[in-house]
Amino acid sequence: MARRATFAPAPWTHGSITNKLPLKMKVTVVGAGNVGATCADAIARWELANEVVLLDIKEGFAEGKALDIWQTAPISLFDSRITGSTNDYAKTANSDVVVITSGLPRKPGMSRDDLIATNAAIVKSVTENIIKHSPNTIIIVVSNPLDVMTYCAFINSKFPANRVFGMAGILDTARYRAFLATELNVSPKDIQAVLMGGHGDTMVPLPRYTTVGGIPVTELIAKDKLDAIVERTKKGGGEIVNLLGTSAWYAPGTAAAQMVEAIVRDQKRIFPCCVWLQGEYGLKDVYMGAPVVLGRNGVERIIELQLNKDEQALCDASAKAVREVMDVLDKMQVTA
Ligand code: NAI
Ligand code: 2OP
Repeated sequence: MARRATFAPAPWTHGSITNKLPLKMKVTVVGAGNVGATCADAIARWELANEVVLLDIKEGFAEGKALDIWQTAPISLFDSRITGSTNDYAKTANSDVVVITSGLPRKPGMSRDDLIATNAAIVKSVTENIIKHSPNTIIIVVSNPLDVMTYCAFINSKFPANRVFGMAGILDTARYRAFLATELNVSPKDIQAVLMGGHGDTMVPLPRYTTVGGIPVTELIAKDKLDAIVERTKKGGGEIVNLLGTSAWYAPGTAAAQMVEAIVRDQKRIFPCCVWLQGEYGLKDVYMGAPVVLGRNGVERIIELQLNKDEQALCDASAKAVREVMDVLDKMQVTA
């Protein structure tokens, strides 16, 4: 028991002795690269599913990663069974949740949008394979450019929008919260934040909705410092790309696992996720980040904040930027 407490995440945050394995849950992660393997590792360690399948197109790669993760089970003390598959979708059959991380990551000098041609073809074929074997699954997209790849999975799956959404907002707010925690020298656990818009330089962190232990952040930090943190957050992905030569994976993989947790444990957690807007915020037919309630049915509700004029203008600009890339996708005819 004491040993488990050393390795398991805190009971109030994630899977632990107080959170038993959900009954007969199966989760697939497509793409066993940096983000996919990190995500699958967190899903297994937090015991979010009895069965975790990691799939990749590269021969033996997913099997190797899955075996390595499974060999941490006696150390980290989890029971989730994790297996790998080289492109055999039969092994993913009847998944409750599928996380799509397959696709190229950014290199220095590239924007997320530069990835569209390659990644759209990958996300389309992965989506088609997934839905053949798991017609009732929930799809979480991680591949970039995120908002448009989520749209790609949506139109190719023909699933209702509550079952197809993307991960970006948890990552982007985590970056924002981490920067604030460093600046204020407080625990990141006490920082709550909302962020809207597309997953790119037009994303919209919302300082008016940021609190530190319940205190509005604006009461704790000078405006110029807060503005600088907002700007750093917007370029947070690029900062890591420049340092590593490829994009981030610890925070993205963990963020996607947190979404899986909210679904399989039906937690009704409120997170910013990339969702299909149908009139909310005055925006229609666009995938973009907004706060939602996540539970067993996927996106159970989109929360509409009362944005002020400036915040709304930033969201409109972000939606416009996403739409331009959605148009590129439509013209590429990789859609259904
Ligand atoms: P990676 O290169 O480490 O892994 C990608 C994996 O996808 C590779 O193992 C590759 O073999 C696999 N793959 C390629 N085509 C496939 C197919 N048709 N079927 C199955 N697997 C296939 O890349 P990394 O760092 O894991 O990033 C993955 C994606 O996630 C990238 O598009 C990246 O831009 C995106 N990303 C998105 C974030 C977000 O916030 N939404 C954050 C970080 C990364
Ligand atoms: C990130 O924000 C590149 O989307 C990736 O790290």
